[in-house]
Amino acid sequence: MKNKKIVVINNKGGVGKTTSSNELFAPFLSFENDMKPTMVYEFDEENLNGAKYNKSSCIKFSPQKITNCDLENNIIDILLEDSYAVIDIGANKSTTYFLEALEKSALDQVLSLVAIPISDGEQDTMNAKKIYRKIRTMNDEVPIVFILSRYSPHRELEYQFDYFFELLLPFVEGKDKQWIVLNDSDTIKFARREGKTVFELSYDKTDYKAIIKNALKKKKKSNDEIKIMSRKNKLLQETIKYRKDVLIPAFNKIREIILK
Ligand SMILES: Nc1ncnc2c1ncn2[C@@H]1O[C@H](COP(=O)(O)OP(=O)(O)O)[C@@H](O)[C@H]1O
Ligand SMILES: [Mg+2]
Repeated sequence: MKNKKIVVINNKGGVGKTTSSNELFAPFLSFENDMKPTMVYEFDEENLNGAKYNKSSCIKFSPQKITNCDLENNIIDILLEDSYAVIDIGANKSTTYFLEALEKSALDQVLSLVAIPISDGEQDTMNAKKIYRKIRTMNDEVPIVFILSRYSPHRELEYQFDYFFELLLPFVEGKDKQWIVLNDSDTIKFARREGKTVFELSYDKTDYKAIIKNALKKKKKSNDEIKIMSRKNKLLQETIKYRKDVLIPAFNKIREIILK
């Protein structure tokens, strides 16, 4: 695989675009590329949450202002660059501009994958349907995958994502009936706060237990600090589970879709 470009798009905010870009696709592309950092371009008029992964070694973050008057050329440059990249298209205007630029330039040809994240709301599903149709009208070959964001593992998938299964999937071509489930987890928030991805944290060898024991012995830390450390210890353990149960199966699915 060389020069892979993955676009993550849905004009509804809060559906998991930035999370899918940084926690799933960037680590995936790094993993496929000897753990070299992946470029993550975030187009958003409001918040640039990708900036929070500032300690990650698999993400090279590049914020893109959508007020930039040369936006179209900017998008074309990114698409033509010889690198592995994830393009996180934020809400509203960015989506329109990006789709326009893609259509005008005919550079949809260079995309390896278009990912459309949705949460369990009706509006994000309806937006996803519009984007899906728009992309398919433009290009009938680029692989498209839906990301079902923030799935709670103790709920029934078809119940939680009822809009997706009832209002979107029946209108999707056979070959596009594919999705990746991204479980809801506190490790996602934890990772953002730590400035790294869950994938990387799952290999972190910080021995919080030893640190806590040592601190208790020396009475060096307050009770509150100990509490925070033991919470971090627990979350760090959970990142390992998240990698095994969610990320690795998702990586396998992405590989299968891209290589199909
Ligand atoms: N799988 C998840 N588990 C826990 N929190 C999540 C998950 N996906 C997204 N979130 C949280 O939901 C919020 C919105 O997600 P985000 O990826 O920023 O959406 P978008 O980029 O589409 O606006 C963020 O606070 C993020 O931390
Ligand atoms: Mg975002």
